[in-house]
Amino acid sequence: MTVQDNILYFAGCNTQELAKTYGTPLILISEDAIAKKTDEIHRDFTDKYDHVRAVYASKAFLNSAMCKIIERAGLGLDVVSGGELYVAQHAGFPMDQIIFHGNNKSVSELKEAIENGVGRIVVDNFSELELVCALSKQMDTPANLLFRITPGIKSDTHAYISTADKDSKFGFPLHSVPSAFEFAKKYENITVMGLHFHVGSQLQSPQSHLDALDVILKLMSQLIESGHPIYELNTGGGYGVKYTDIDEEMQLATFTAPIMDRIEAWSLDTGHKRPLVIIEPGRWLIANAGLTLYTVGSSKSIPQVRDYIAVDGGIPDNIRPALYTAKYRAVIANKMNCPAEKTVTIAGKCCESGDILIRDITLPEAERGDLLAVFGTGAYTESMSSNYNLLPRPAVVLVGDKGAFLIKRRETYEDLTRRDVLPPHLK
Ligand code: LLP
Repeated sequence: MTVQDNILYFAGCNTQELAKTYGTPLILISEDAIAKKTDEIHRDFTDKYDHVRAVYASKAFLNSAMCKIIERAGLGLDVVSGGELYVAQHAGFPMDQIIFHGNNKSVSELKEAIENGVGRIVVDNFSELELVCALSKQMDTPANLLFRITPGIKSDTHAYISTADKDSKFGFPLHSVPSAFEFAKKYENITVMGLHFHVGSQLQSPQSHLDALDVILKLMSQLIESGHPIYELNTGGGYGVKYTDIDEEMQLATFTAPIMDRIEAWSLDTGHKRPLVIIEPGRWLIANAGLTLYTVGSSKSIPQVRDYIAVDGGIPDNIRPALYTAKYRAVIANKMNCPAEKTVTIAGKCCESGDILIRDITLPEAERGDLLAVFGTGAYTESMSSNYNLLPRPAVVLVGDKGAFLIKRRETYEDLTRRDVLPPHLK
């Protein structure tokens, strides 16, 4: 980020020009910022250790251009629905580099996964295991599986993004894992490659991964010793990012180094061969590559209470503040050299009192037509976007030293009625 003539430049591009060209709200994604993260993944993980693999958790943000970026960076892709699988396939992403997650994959999603030879299907529970085994037999097609395990540990994050507690909708409870292996053994086409766990998201330390590993590594020893080899261990994602000044910038190695140390120590202690270790970062790779531009509209002052400014987006393009009380940092992109001297609350334009993007932020005096830039919006904003109040979804522009490229067009009003069907009696 740089400043020139009072204007914010993001990835070398003039944000005011981009807002004029593409309209607002507008999501910018910095290709260079993604490259920095994928380079760090290679430097501190895939090139540093033998027998490891990194995949990008595409639920954070996915479209065709993003598939290409991830493929060229040499990472695999974690998908969690037939929709994400379709987008990957449409972009020509190699199917054998895909890991298919989800706690309730449908019959058709599983068939698509088996038919297309996705690399791994991560089976979430016993009833899904029965279904996968039956389908692969029926289709006479092999499937390579991982079992997602609930380690039964607490994670230090928002309850909605904590996933490894005993009472979680995700994963096999520990007691059921040996019988799942026994069950899968009966199916010729099925190979269980190993285990998966994911402890939660936006984690501030590797502690929950290590707590989970204590449980999972013990389980692995038991499984191996009772004749169930473990070739792979997928340790999920969850690495936190810096959203505001009170957050720490997290290096990948803050998480991966202790994770690898713990697994390697287990291997030395037990004499069991270390499995292939997989990581699945989503947010860590894309959050700070993103920036959302909004145009300031109405403002109002309630004496002794609060000053509001309202922008032309909100919950539909970023539900995270409303859903997880997520915090963001912002600037007035066309007043970068003006002193920040007014504390305001930034409201979205939805008919929801909870549609507040940022509470109590100190900015230069903002007027109608100013441009608000919210940082760190690359992860779980566009991918969680909606048409609430029938606001069209924003455009997404990829920015970097090659220039600015539209990678997802803005929704139009026509898009809003495209799926409507009038029954004969209402025509
Ligand atoms: N692997 C699995 C199996 C997952 O379920 C997830 C995220 C990840 C990897 C990637 O986690 P990350 O590295 O991005 O933390 N919508 C929420 C986040 C939900 C995350 C769900 N699973 C948010 O906006 O904070």
